[in-house]
Amino acid sequence: MNIQERKDILVTCGPGLKDYLQAELEALGFEIINTHSGGVLTHGSFIDCMKLNFTLRTAFNVLYLMRQFRCRSPEELYEQVYAIAWENIIDPSEYLCVLSQVDTPSIDNTMFPNVKVKDAIVDRINSKKGSRPDSGRERGNVVVNLFWKRDKAWLYLNTSGVKLSDRNYRKMPYKAPLRESLAAAIITATGFDGSCDLVLPMCGSGTLAIEAALIAMNKPAGALRNNFGFKHVKGFDERIWEQLRRDINKGVRKKALTKRIIATDISEEAITAAQQNAKTAGVGHLIDFKVCDFADTDLPSGDGLIVMNPEYGSRMGEIEKLETEYKRIGDFLKQRCAGYTAYILVGNKELSAKIRLKASRRMVFYNGKIECRLLKYELYKGIKPPQNSK
Ligand SMILES: C[S@@+](CC[C@H](N)C(=O)[O-])C[C@H]1O[C@@H](n2cnc3c(N)ncnc32)[C@H](O)[C@@H]1O
Repeated sequence: MNIQERKDILVTCGPGLKDYLQAELEALGFEIINTHSGGVLTHGSFIDCMKLNFTLRTAFNVLYLMRQFRCRSPEELYEQVYAIAWENIIDPSEYLCVLSQVDTPSIDNTMFPNVKVKDAIVDRINSKKGSRPDSGRERGNVVVNLFWKRDKAWLYLNTSGVKLSDRNYRKMPYKAPLRESLAAAIITATGFDGSCDLVLPMCGSGTLAIEAALIAMNKPAGALRNNFGFKHVKGFDERIWEQLRRDINKGVRKKALTKRIIATDISEEAITAAQQNAKTAGVGHLIDFKVCDFADTDLPSGDGLIVMNPEYGSRMGEIEKLETEYKRIGDFLKQRCAGYTAYILVGNKELSAKIRLKASRRMVFYNGKIECRLLKYELYKGIKPPQNSK
């Protein structure tokens, strides 16, 4: 495979994150061809894909286009896939996983195109090499993605394999953790870059604090991963990969932060998990952890940021109990946080109304299937914040 060849690259992301992903790609100098709700289309080489995998914080997968074709039947799909020289891309000793998204009238079972693509790839390799890769659902090796819409199909090599949001530092989970890519987008939305204090009460397993520390250090999101889809492809060159990592790592901030990142939670178990996760991520020394009620969190004097992700509750009894917590969050912001800007991720409108402060901005995020709002509160010093009537 010619790893210098420039092709379309589709970078996928979680719902609501495409603008953050687009901004990341633009900052890295990539041209934006178009965007849609699930991702951003750009252009570049296989080496660019390696770079994107190492760097991007808000992406799921980096997909390198193998072939775009007209496709009206499973037979045509097989022929088109078989025509690619897979023997130059995948070694028979590798393991193959095929993923498909199909929206075409002739197909109602997406497993069927999956099997057709897999058969075409392994049959081609078998005919040229006399043996074939094993295949299945594991995403840790070679992954191929098919998108088939009406009579058009796109076949991509998935250069990420396992989603990039699995950064590899969350060895100790705690309840309701945010996905790492979502946490990175939330921190980006607050404008945090390490130049002000950041306080994270209710930090849970520490995802927001860890993503913030990685951003403040300018440490690549992929720095902790050893495995990527591109490593399993013929043509992958370890020396190019090493050089690319060395070059990108030159931008990592070596000096200690001048401002503080403080993360607290009422649960000792959560703080133990968060501390361990931060240590694994190599940012344990940058975050001050403490077990305490959110309202007792130490706040450095000045004008820093507060970011909170309280529970939303899903059942009636839980929501009623949480009402008091949300009222207390409002009191905490009003009474203790003057000078700060606070961002609260809320997933329940009735509960967020209990904060009784007027948000100056509301940004939409999706935590899994839950539509959330990141509410911004500017807590002016010396002036009584405007009150909500509710
Ligand atoms: C939705 S979870 C936060 C998840 C976190 N963003 C993560 O990615 O792991 C909410 C957290 O609030 C904590 N919590 C609940 N009540 C609290 C209180 N009164 N003071 C401090 N923390 C509290 C819980 O222990 C839980 O860890």
